[in-house]
Amino acid sequence: MDLTAPYVPDLESIPAGLDLPAEIRRLKADRRAVLLAHYYQEPEIQDLADFVGDSLQLSQQAAKSDADVIAFCGVHFMAETAKILNPTKTVVIPDMDAGCSLADRCPADYFAEWLTQYPDHDVVSYINCSAGVKALSTVICTSSNAVKVVESLPRGRKIVFAPDRHLGKWVMKQTGRDMVLFPGFCIVHEQFTAKRVAALKAQHPDAKLIAHPECDATVLQLADFVGSTAALLNFVATDRATSFIVATEAGILHQMRQRRPEAELIPAPADSGCNCSLCPYMKLNSLEKLYLCLRDLKPEILLDESLRVRALKPLERMLALS
Ligand code: 13P
Ligand code: SF4
Repeated sequence: MDLTAPYVPDLESIPAGLDLPAEIRRLKADRRAVLLAHYYQEPEIQDLADFVGDSLQLSQQAAKSDADVIAFCGVHFMAETAKILNPTKTVVIPDMDAGCSLADRCPADYFAEWLTQYPDHDVVSYINCSAGVKALSTVICTSSNAVKVVESLPRGRKIVFAPDRHLGKWVMKQTGRDMVLFPGFCIVHEQFTAKRVAALKAQHPDAKLIAHPECDATVLQLADFVGSTAALLNFVATDRATSFIVATEAGILHQMRQRRPEAELIPAPADSGCNCSLCPYMKLNSLEKLYLCLRDLKPEILLDESLRVRALKPLERMLALS
């Protein structure tokens, strides 16, 4: 159970003309805080962070942090994961409403009920889930290590994979393991369609298509490379191609541009009204809210201790494998 009281950022309490980046740096030092940011955060937040990474790298950083405060610029399940790993630290997130369609559409009580259909299965849960779902899992994975985590389970074990059906399907293909898939999806990656991506490829025949495994299998089939956010970044940084079509959340382009300023980076178009392939949850965080959360140490992630302990076990199992 999340015991956090409702909190509304008081944006009007920020003095006009305040140098927010300078204030955030000052507060970070005063609070002995570490600022962790996911690649999907706004560039101005990424540029202030002590560490920018994908879900696996961020959980590894959170696990080894010796700061007093973790300011987590990502979505709720990521900050909650940091709290599971650091019960004595203060973990704050700029906007408590920064959720995730995968985590939000797989509530723990519903998941527990759903799992009763598969009593003799190991449960591999993507880290994009609540502490309640983690507590019901055998082991956690991220998109970086999902193949390795599934392969670590003895052959012949029956497996449930939750909550992302696309990542699950891709892991099934990579490992040759059959798995029962929970029918969840990411609202950002689900918007990429094979039709639009193929049309873009036809316009840019020399570009390599790189895609996140949260995309539909029909998109992944067209890709030259499939990988987690960090793997996609590494691919762009090291591959000889000079043009890339990027089928993931467009926030990653900020780091890609820094690694390959001369390369052409083409964001794959989302087949949605806005066409923008931005995660609306990730973008709830802003410099203003980050300033407030460091100033007021709110909103804070709080967790029931017995739930935390149950959620920790499958998370530690993943970290030991990574
Ligand atoms: P990774 O950070 O594991 O690439 O996952 C992407 C994502 O959608 C995070 O919410
Ligand atoms: Fe969740 Fe998708 Fe946003 Fe990542 S990009 S936080 S998976 S909704």
